[in-house]
Amino acid sequence: MSAPSFRLRALERDDLPFVHQLFNDDQIMSYWFDEPFEALVELRDIYDRHIHDERERRFIVDVDGEPAGLVELVGIVDVHRTAEFQIIIAPRHQGRGLAATATRKALDYAFAVLNLHKIYLIVDVANEKAIHVYRKVGFQDEGILREEFFAAGRYRNALRMGVLQHEHLERMEREKRIPGSP
Ligand SMILES: CC(C)(COP(=O)(O)OP(=O)(O)OC[C@H]1O[C@@H](n2cnc3c(N)ncnc32)[C@H](O)[C@@H]1OP(=O)(O)O)[C@@H](O)C(=O)NCCC(=O)NCCS
Repeated sequence: MSAPSFRLRALERDDLPFVHQLFNDDQIMSYWFDEPFEALVELRDIYDRHIHDERERRFIVDVDGEPAGLVELVGIVDVHRTAEFQIIIAPRHQGRGLAATATRKALDYAFAVLNLHKIYLIVDVANEKAIHVYRKVGFQDEGILREEFFAAGRYRNALRMGVLQHEHLERMEREKRIPGSP
């Protein structure tokens, strides 16, 4: 049996039913710090309004031609060359190493293609799985944000993490990974 094919590709309008499923999963959304309540028509409207927005890049994690997750670089700021990273892997695809691979690929794109300086993220301190993945691919802890978000009935402390361009490019060099398309 051949290894599954993996790639990040641009989020297309046809992917929105898949994203709609993710965004209506209350467990996923409690870690995304958002309400699990999003109409498909609203997602389509947001997609159409943001299509030319240079401040964000949204990718589908594509495995064997099937959408398996969503990865985003959002809030890109030109002056500071920063962006926020976000990821969801669909429940039935979790635990296969996809988040680690997809995060590395998104960082490759952010640093080697977009020439960003720093990527940061904010994660619930209780989200140990996500924190493990982020540390594994090179994010460093930057501080605790006390009671930053309200989700599933209570305020949550969050950890801010970040990785710098030179850190990631040096890692790519060490791992002999070639910059290019996602
Ligand atoms: C967090 C998430 C992206 C991880 O995706 P995934 O594809 O299952 O992750 P991977 O398979 O690449 O890696 C999981 C790693 O976490 C480890 N892990 C699993 N449970 C863990 C736990 N409770 N504590 C610490 N590490 C854990 C696994 O051993 C594995 O590490 P390894 O490869 O070094 O052995 C996914 O669970 C998800 O989408 N969750 C909901 C949305 C979310 O939380 N997004 C992040 C918001 S900041």
